[in-house]
Amino acid sequence: MFQDRVLSGMRPTGAMHLGHYHGALKNWVRLQNEFPCLFFAADWHALTTHYEDPSVIESTVWEMFVDWLAVGIDPAKATLFIQSRVPQHAELTMLLAFFTPLAWLERVPTYKDLVERHAEKGRDVLTYGFLGYPLMQAADIMIYRANKVPVGEDQVSHIELTREIARRFNHLFGREKGFEEKAEAAVKKLGARKAKLYRSLRARYQEQGDAEALGEAQALVSDVQNLTLGDKERLYGFIEGGGRMILAEAESLLTETPKLLGLDGQKMSKSADNAIMLREPPESVTQKIRKMQTDPARVRRSDPGEPERCPVWNLHQVYSNENTRNWVLQGCRTAGIGCLECKQPVIDSINAELMPIRERAAQYEEDPTLVRNVIQDGCEKASDLADETMRDVRDAMGLNYT
Ligand code: TRP
Ligand code: SF4
Repeated sequence: MFQDRVLSGMRPTGAMHLGHYHGALKNWVRLQNEFPCLFFAADWHALTTHYEDPSVIESTVWEMFVDWLAVGIDPAKATLFIQSRVPQHAELTMLLAFFTPLAWLERVPTYKDLVERHAEKGRDVLTYGFLGYPLMQAADIMIYRANKVPVGEDQVSHIELTREIARRFNHLFGREKGFEEKAEAAVKKLGARKAKLYRSLRARYQEQGDAEALGEAQALVSDVQNLTLGDKERLYGFIEGGGRMILAEAESLLTETPKLLGLDGQKMSKSADNAIMLREPPESVTQKIRKMQTDPARVRRSDPGEPERCPVWNLHQVYSNENTRNWVLQGCRTAGIGCLECKQPVIDSINAELMPIRERAAQYEEDPTLVRNVIQDGCEKASDLADETMRDVRDAMGLNYT
């Protein structure tokens, strides 16, 4: 189909903690070596819930970027940008809104729940913007024709919605007068040999639903050099029958790592005061972990404990190898080791992990223009990519008239 492209975003929440690192950033660093990647600060998304205190956006955006760069996201490989600096996102969101059924948004599984949760904190999110926030997310993704979106479990339904909207768009606007004739003409442009192969793969897919044939036909089209984008879109669409494929269908990439919890065994977050920050000094890491609550049943050193009831065990699951984990299981259940002893390997691993991150962050803290320049550059690149899609979208929706 379209070229592989990864996109993900985060609401600006300021300096990042280990939960962000293990849940998302580490995966992003890996992905940037495999695919073209775009990562952005979703500052408009922050306004969907925090429209009453917009002043926090500025500092939280830059702090977040410092940490993205510090963990090794490399601007030479990935494009980093700010959503609101690419206002084309807003245009696409609005154009999608015209044909997005209200019921699709009301049925997003998290919607009603989130309205209540925010109300408990005194925030009224019974707004048009908050209901529309998954649609804005769909536009964030489709405006780059991204097909791979690394997200957490809670976001999977938003990616499904994105796919449904892409299909609806292609269905409504991918038709054009004389599509069949234009598609046939494009097939001829492939040359005799490839045209024959294309036709037989298309028949195999349409008559037998052969998914492999679909993939091969798409690869064939993708490799052709001398066709216009319009003809390529027709050829992609023609394999499956319908019309042109203007917007790509995205899928979520779930991160398969053990979840890193906070110091109290709950979800890690700065506001719950249970986080270890990526730029946390080593002494502070040591202190925080030494003070962590352990299995409440283990009152005295001589009492045996149960790792499953202890938040330190979660850290071992993320940081320790099998040997160390067995040492913990055995030592804890037989009271063979003390809790401070048990915590030490985790303290050492976290400090070793954070050392290069702190060092890299220091560079960017010293020279903020470094970060500003990376982002400026990224916003320009993102804007160029967004323009390509918007040209096709406006055209398909009949807006390119003179
Ligand atoms: N909604 C996401 C979150 O709250 C952030 C986000 C916005 C996003 N746009 C996106 C993630 C596009 C992936 C792709 O975490
Ligand atoms: Fe927790 Fe380790 Fe103490 Fe057991 S020995 S209670 S796992 S800190």
